[in-house]
Amino acid sequence: MQTVHSVSQVREYVRGWHNKGLSVGFVPTMGNLHEGHLSLIKEAHARCDVVVVSIFVNPTQFGPNEDFDRYPRTLDADAAALVDAGTDLLFAPSVDEMYPLGQNQTWVDVDNLGDYLCGASREGHFRGVTTVVSKLFNIVQPDVAVFGEKDFQQLAIIRRMAEELCFPVKIVGAATSRESDGLARSSRNGFLSESERKLAPRLYRQLQQLKADIEAGERDFRALEKRHGEALDQAGFQVDYLTIAEARSLAPAGENDTNLVIAAAAKLGQTRLIDNVSLAVVRTP
Ligand code: PAF
Repeated sequence: MQTVHSVSQVREYVRGWHNKGLSVGFVPTMGNLHEGHLSLIKEAHARCDVVVVSIFVNPTQFGPNEDFDRYPRTLDADAAALVDAGTDLLFAPSVDEMYPLGQNQTWVDVDNLGDYLCGASREGHFRGVTTVVSKLFNIVQPDVAVFGEKDFQQLAIIRRMAEELCFPVKIVGAATSRESDGLARSSRNGFLSESERKLAPRLYRQLQQLKADIEAGERDFRALEKRHGEALDQAGFQVDYLTIAEARSLAPAGENDTNLVIAAAAKLGQTRLIDNVSLAVVRTP
């Protein structure tokens, strides 16, 4: 595996591969890699001849009171894991390399989809994500890019952005990777105390219970959100949102919607966890 830090070096490698007719898969990350990231890399390998991974903790997607400074930076361990995973190129740029003119003046922003779920409480977050992902797509010029379904809203927004801006890249969603107790793998799980870690899988269980309630015929979505949100609060979470959304628009689902995602964000202490489950509702005539 080669590790490079500059835009021009990435372009040189990728140009060489494309000239040889090789397809390039891309997995953008913020590092602190875990098995979830490795499953994305595996997916990229299954679809492409070579795989590029970026590690960049992107400042423009963190709000002023969020965890940019304490976000774990573990480049040496990450690079070792990437070698084991058969990665061809690691792009690990500095903030200056990605934002050479300082404060960004050019933004990529997707309307509407960013207004709901995490977007409602993390102002500017998705604008930071879409801006940096656009830059990374322009730098790496991949044929395929793989993102985790744990970040359901991020994936939906990136799909929309890539389609509307005609990026010549296929966006692939990979299933959420989970610990044996169901907790969705996340770099932020490392912040959980022992007791918080024990409680954390409850989030996924609650979403599954809600899904089971819908499958059993309950259709008052707002009442279900309230009941299951309160149950999480009582268990010790601070719920940011628990929403039954229409899976394409991400707007709160109505009783006639059939393609649903149940998504939640909740804090345990200082650690914000997100998770989601999808379901298709069969409408009875
Ligand atoms: O999902 C992430 O890790 C980040 O949001 C991403 C896509 C790498 C952009 O910084």
